[in-house]
Amino acid sequence: MDKVNTYIKEHQQRFLDELFELLKIPSISADSRYKDDMLKTADLTKKFLIQAGLENVEICSTEGHPIVYGDKIIDKNLPTVLVYGHYDVQPPDPLELWDSEPFEPVIKETEIHPNGAIFARGASDDKGQFFMHVKAIEAMIENDSLPCNVKFMIEGEEEIGSEHLGTFIKENKEKLENDIILISDTTLAGKDIPSICVGLRGLSYVEIEVEGANRDMHSGIYGGAVPNPINVLSDMISGLIDDNGHINIPGFYDDVEELTEQERREMAKIPFDLEKYKKAIGIKDIQGEKGFSTNERTSIRPTLDVNGIWGGYTGEGAKTVIPSKAFAKISMRLVPHQNSEKISKLFKSYFEKIAPNSVRVNCQILHGGQPYVLPVTSPGYLAAKEAMTTTFGKEALPYRSGGSIPIVALFEEVLESKSVLMGFGLNSDVIHSPNENFGVDNFFKGIETIPYFYKYYSEKF
Ligand code: BES
Ligand code: MN
Ligand code: MN
Repeated sequence: MDKVNTYIKEHQQRFLDELFELLKIPSISADSRYKDDMLKTADLTKKFLIQAGLENVEICSTEGHPIVYGDKIIDKNLPTVLVYGHYDVQPPDPLELWDSEPFEPVIKETEIHPNGAIFARGASDDKGQFFMHVKAIEAMIENDSLPCNVKFMIEGEEEIGSEHLGTFIKENKEKLENDIILISDTTLAGKDIPSICVGLRGLSYVEIEVEGANRDMHSGIYGGAVPNPINVLSDMISGLIDDNGHINIPGFYDDVEELTEQERREMAKIPFDLEKYKKAIGIKDIQGEKGFSTNERTSIRPTLDVNGIWGGYTGEGAKTVIPSKAFAKISMRLVPHQNSEKISKLFKSYFEKIAPNSVRVNCQILHGGQPYVLPVTSPGYLAAKEAMTTTFGKEALPYRSGGSIPIVALFEEVLESKSVLMGFGLNSDVIHSPNENFGVDNFFKGIETIPYFYKYYSEKF
């Protein structure tokens, strides 16, 4: 390990320079105008995998954005780790809220990161994080310290639902055969809290259209008699959650996993400062489901949120109008044993049922994903725990995250292997928002920790 650690220290500046190259390409998967940049990013990723010493490196085309693959098989009798990550990023909007250009990475000191943080779209989600694996593998291969087989699969459609990756893994089961999947695309529970994410929430996402009259109406001539779809939609939405923060859809909680008191006590060990939390995001008070802590509300409990709502006149000045239509996008985060298809259907039938006769409601199911849990007794978890405990110098704790990586549940179903979510980001990285950043210390802590995962995993196997 000494040789690997020394190698990493000696090449720090180059690692950062290379990551900057990756961050400079706007690989926005959602926007077809960036198709060429997606290909460029896949190409550069391929170049870095080759440089790291991986073999069989190739760009696998799909009907969408390509997947980059590479491996190093040293002995068929040794275990195989499959590294997954994504090179696509979220759109950078709203641009005017960035303090520097989203695709011109810069390092700036911050309160949380006195040694600097890399500011760029994708710095934390997920280019900076998957790149830690590329560099850790390079360090291990260069120093003859790779203790097992490794495969890399870096996709370009995570931020838009990983549709074609689903097909790819079904068609390439043998190629992707592995004993454990290792992913850095989540956060630590805090900068100095060694912690491994052992749960992801699932997702149900729907779009609603409410239609009243067959055209926009004068709100004086018709107001009072005809349905206003915006009023109706708002009313329907406000009834979805009661005063206790409970979601009113019948059957919604039927399959929700209830944690034991012991499990809840374990979770509560993760330090949490409510005042700091509120201050960091600029709110006066928190809210949520009665009977649960903030950490529980954002991880082990399901939620329902309106992501967007529109309709009617939103231009300058006043226009007196009763719109013909109103729209909303609604997402539900799901927890273990809830099923995304089932919840989407429950939502749809309930929402259509509560609609007054005066309007037509159309609910379209957009996409979803299943929740995921990693048992704290699994070899992958134990290896990650030992690795983080080593590099942080204190015991790593398990925690569940509120975010979703839908492909992880599909990996389990199709490839029949567990994923270890050893992320090094922080909530303060503001992924998906303006000024996304990734701590320089976090980046190097990740590169330093990953080789220990391979060491402990291979020893335990
Ligand atoms: N890396 C995130 C997910 C994440 C972030 C999980 C932090 C846990 C902690 C991923 O790229 C993401 O943004 N996922 C989306 C879902 C996807 C279907 C667009 C999400 O969680 O909203
Ligand atoms: Mn991600
Ligand atoms: Mn993301």
